[in-house]
Amino acid sequence: MAKYEPVLLKNVGVPDIRKLDVYRSRGGYASAKKVLTEWTPDQAVEIIKSSGLRGRGGAGFPCGMKWSFLPPDRKITYLCVNADESEPGTFCNRVLMEEDPHQLLEGILIAGFATRSTAAYIYMRVEFHEQFHILQKALDEAYAAGLFGKKLFGTDYNLECYIHRGAGAYVCGEETGLIESLEGKRGWPRIKPPFPAIEGLFRRPTVVNNVETICCVPHIVERGVEWFKSIGTENSAGPKLYTVSGPVKRPGCFEAPLGLSCRDLIFGDDYGQGMLEGKKVKGCIPGGLSVGVLTEKELDCKLDFDDVRKYGLLGLGTAGAIVIPHDADIRHVLANITRFYSHESCGQCTQCREGTNWLYKIAKRIAAGAGRVADLDLIVEVTKNMGMMGGLSICGLPDGAAFPIRTIVEKFRDEFEDHIRRQEPGRVEYMIKHVNPAAYELPILGSRSVQAAV
Ligand SMILES: Cc1cc2nc3c(=O)[nH]c(=O)nc-3n(C[C@H](O)[C@H](O)[C@H](O)COP(=O)(O)O)c2cc1C
Ligand code: SF4
Repeated sequence: MAKYEPVLLKNVGVPDIRKLDVYRSRGGYASAKKVLTEWTPDQAVEIIKSSGLRGRGGAGFPCGMKWSFLPPDRKITYLCVNADESEPGTFCNRVLMEEDPHQLLEGILIAGFATRSTAAYIYMRVEFHEQFHILQKALDEAYAAGLFGKKLFGTDYNLECYIHRGAGAYVCGEETGLIESLEGKRGWPRIKPPFPAIEGLFRRPTVVNNVETICCVPHIVERGVEWFKSIGTENSAGPKLYTVSGPVKRPGCFEAPLGLSCRDLIFGDDYGQGMLEGKKVKGCIPGGLSVGVLTEKELDCKLDFDDVRKYGLLGLGTAGAIVIPHDADIRHVLANITRFYSHESCGQCTQCREGTNWLYKIAKRIAAGAGRVADLDLIVEVTKNMGMMGGLSICGLPDGAAFPIRTIVEKFRDEFEDHIRRQEPGRVEYMIKHVNPAAYELPILGSRSVQAAV
């Protein structure tokens, strides 16, 4: 098989590629010039639509379709580039901004023009200190060269671009939380509808796209729709950045066509190169934390937008794989996951605020050796009653919490039960009475079926 030629990472390792003249010497900004001087915005939207590009930020929503939802008679439009990258296990946006900042800026020019945006805001997580300075420097250079600002490429199109640094909240990666935060408010997601395309930043039509989605755009312009569709699988066109972390020989960020299997990502010579000496795979969370877990036997799952669903996962997510080694205590994995979501819930919705915290309390109790087998049913029950998919919350955070928590309990149930049954006699009572009673208090039961199970 012919070796895959990187697209998004093609400039990695090119000396001084962060400098504008070097990026331009490799054909950079030619796509932006072509679109701004030869195409209409609607043409650009149609091209991206027909390329089949789907959002890389988690939900996989078709990019061109999202752009086409903007009201045709709008006067002001904003483009928000989601560089919050807060999903655990995910660091591909960071690599893109660090290694090839002008690729993103060129994508912003094209996306801005296609959506008739007057300003673009790059919302970047605050922990990206180095990436912020790299990107700001590239943006300053682009401004000095007349690539942003007024009358771009001699046309009447104007676009301002700003980098806004977040304050470190997971929920600010959710598009309406991001918009609230950009407006200077607490990053509380908004009830939808209205969706941002109709009423977004400063209540104007707004498009929110992930960094990697935007980075695909100049390549589609340069090499065409058919080329883009020829990469990947049927409903999952194009290149993808996969990241892998955990006890593998070569953790990192790798590019491959969409549809790389999780096994190849962990064991392939071009990717993770297998487990560290003495370690075996127990499972893998392949899409950023929020998609759910695969067992070792399920590692042949293709990481595209469709195959993942056959394995009970929420979706492809961000394709950031977290490998769980054989010697990890599954109870601690669960406690760690529940702690994250409980901490990050913004607290607006009762089901999410209470549900994530309740799950954390149960998981802590199990991890401390004071769990009951019925707790496992309780966990599954709670995860089914707190998400946006069930119409119970404003944003998708609790759905993202439910999938890893539920799939871990369901797919590793024997291991949990084994731990619980091997607990010392009397330990449950001991833990409840003597060890931080607040932390291990019995949950208030949530539904009849759970009460019956207990
Ligand atoms: C809790 C939560 C956190 C999210 N965090 C991010 C994030 O860090 N980066 C991102 O691009 N999308 C994130 N998303 C998805 C965004 O809401 C949105 O779908 C995405 O930015 C759209 O871009 P795309 O269409 O290019 O994928 C998050 C969603 C939720 C519910
Ligand atoms: S679902 Fe959770 S994170 Fe999202 S708005 Fe409601 S409380 Fe906040």
